[in-house]
Amino acid sequence: MSKKITAAITAVGGYVPEDKLTNADLEKMVDTNDEWIRTRTGIEERRILKGEGKATSDMVVPAVKELCQKRGIDPSEIDCMIVATVTPDMVFPATANIACDKLGAKHAWGFDVSAACSGFLYSLTLGASLIESGRYKKVVVAGADKMSAIVDYSDRTTCIIFGDGAGAVLLEPNEENLGVLDSILKSDGSGCQYLHMKAGGSLRPATVETVMAKQHFIYQDGQPVFKFAVKGMADVSAELLEKNNLTGNDIAWLVPHQANLRIIDATANRMGLSKEKVMINIQKYGNTTAGTLPLCLWDWEKQLKKGDNIVLAAFGGGFTWGATLLKWAYDPI
Ligand code: UT7
Repeated sequence: MSKKITAAITAVGGYVPEDKLTNADLEKMVDTNDEWIRTRTGIEERRILKGEGKATSDMVVPAVKELCQKRGIDPSEIDCMIVATVTPDMVFPATANIACDKLGAKHAWGFDVSAACSGFLYSLTLGASLIESGRYKKVVVAGADKMSAIVDYSDRTTCIIFGDGAGAVLLEPNEENLGVLDSILKSDGSGCQYLHMKAGGSLRPATVETVMAKQHFIYQDGQPVFKFAVKGMADVSAELLEKNNLTGNDIAWLVPHQANLRIIDATANRMGLSKEKVMINIQKYGNTTAGTLPLCLWDWEKQLKKGDNIVLAAFGGGFTWGATLLKWAYDPI
C-alpha cells in the first residue's frame, strides 16, 4: 500500500521593504502618541513599500526567489502559485500571474485568494490539498499585502496598525507525516460591516464622489473586531488542540496573526502556552494582513526543528478565521 502523502513546508522566504514608518513619524501625521500605540497594539514601527510602480507582486517576487535559492530550485520548477492578498496589483489579473511572469515561473498556474488576515491560512490548506492529491509536487503559497496602498494616513484609528510585507513557503510531498496535518477554517460574512473597503468593487465602482469621500481606504470599527478576534482566534486554536488530542505542552510554537499584542496574548493564554513559545514580530512590522504568518516563519526559521508541532492561527476581515496544525519538516540549515 502506498504511504499517505502530506504537504510539508520545505523552504521559507520573506521580504519587507527598507523604509520604516515609526510611531514617532505617526505622531507628526495624526493626533496619536508612541505610548498609546505601544500599549494598545504592541507596534513600534512598520515597513512601507515606496517608489513609483511598486506593487504587491514586487514583494512576492523577492520572497519566492529567496525560497527557491534556499531549496536549490529554479522558479520554472514551481507547479502552482497561490498568493493571498487584499491588495492585489490590479483587480485582475491575479497578482499570482504577474509574480509568476516576473519570476520566470513559466510552468506554474496560479491564482489569488481574498481572505484578508486569514488569507495565508486559507491558502496553506488549499496548497496542501493540491499536494495531497498527488497531482502537484511544488506549490508556493505566499501571503503579501501592500497595506499602505489602502490606508488613510489621516485616520489615526487605522494608520497606526498596518504595514507592508510578504512571506512565502514552498510545499512538497512528504511520506513521514510531516507538514500540514489539520486545519479548522471558518467564516462569517455578517462581520463585513465592521471591516471593509466601501468602494472600488462592483457594489460601488470608483467615481469622483467615492474618491472624495475617502471610500477606497480601509474602514474598521476596531472594538467589535477586537472582541470577535479575541474570541474567534482563541476558541478555534483550543478547538484544534482538542480535536488532535493535544495540549499546550505538545506545542513547540504558536504562530499568531499579528494584529494586536492583546489578541495574541489572549490566544496563547487560552492554549496554555508560555510567552517563549509565541512568535511575535508585530513591534517591527505592524499588521501586514496576509503577510504576518509567513513573515513569522521567516523570522523564526533558524529556531525550528524537524518534528516541532506548530499551530498557526488567524482572524480578520470577512470575518474569516481559523487555525492550522503543522509538523515542521526540517532542521535549521
Ligand atoms: O487584522 C485584521 C483584524 N483587525 C484587528 O484584529 C484589530 C482589532 N482591533 C484593535 O486592535 C483595536 O480595537 C484598536 C487597536 C484598533 C483600537 O484599540 P482600542 O483599545 O479598541 O481603542 P478604542 O477604539 O476603544 O479607542 C480608545 C480611545 C478613544 O478615545 P476616547 O473615546 O476613549 O476618548 C479613541 O478615540 O483611544 C482613542 N484613539 C486613539 N488615541 C491615540 C483611537 N485611536 C487612537 C490613536 N492614538 N491612534
